Amino acid sequence: MQILVTVASRHGATAEIGSAVARVLRAAGHEVAEAAPEEVADVQAYDAVVLGSAVYTAHWLPAARDLAARLAPELRERVVWVFSSGLATQPAASANSPHELRALARDVGAVGHRAFAGRLRRADLSFAERAIIAGARAKEGDHRDFAAVAAWAEQIAEHLRTREGAGAGRAAS
Ligand SMILES: Cc1cc2nc3c(=O)[nH]c(=O)nc-3n(C[C@H](O)[C@H](O)[C@H](O)COP(=O)(O)O)c2cc1C
Repeated sequence: MQILVTVASRHGATAEIGSAVARVLRAAGHEVAEAAPEEVADVQAYDAVVLGSAVYTAHWLPAARDLAARLAPELRERVVWVFSSGLATQPAASANSPHELRALARDVGAVGHRAFAGRLRRADLSFAERAIIAGARAKEGDHRDFAAVAAWAEQIAEHLRTREGAGAGRAAS
């Protein structure tokens, strides 16, 4: 199948999660394109889309939210998976989880959503970002779990295999 992996990332950590997902899907035999959300004009060429974003002050980054809003009708006709990456992955930290996520996942018809732990490197941050982080008890370091990312991507591959087996291709558009 033709798959697009499109991820909004400010400091690169979430983009690398997207690339890890893309690698697994390629290894499963799919044609996988990677593009930043602001570069995606449409998704007509794809059977499936993986849309991800880093979480900043309890929101997805604007480029990913914008893509979801712009292309919701096309996305709903495809198999869509979404993921978020931030430092608040526990349900207890839901105050810092992206507020728009439930509605966004519904609007694009997402099969599922997954939250992955991210990375915080103080040296990467702007002055304003450091000021925001200073008030939060965010743990510096790379908390990404690439085994968990790969396992999730395998689930997507399995889901697509099942659909292919059932003869379900891209919805006509
Ligand atoms: C200013 C700032 C605000 C953040 N706000 C949140 C938040 O509300 N919830 C969360 O889970 N993570 C938050 N994070 C953590 C980032 O999501 C995490 O560092 C992520 O891995 C960054 O991804 P990126 O390198 O792709 O931009 C914040 C980080 C910064 C620097």
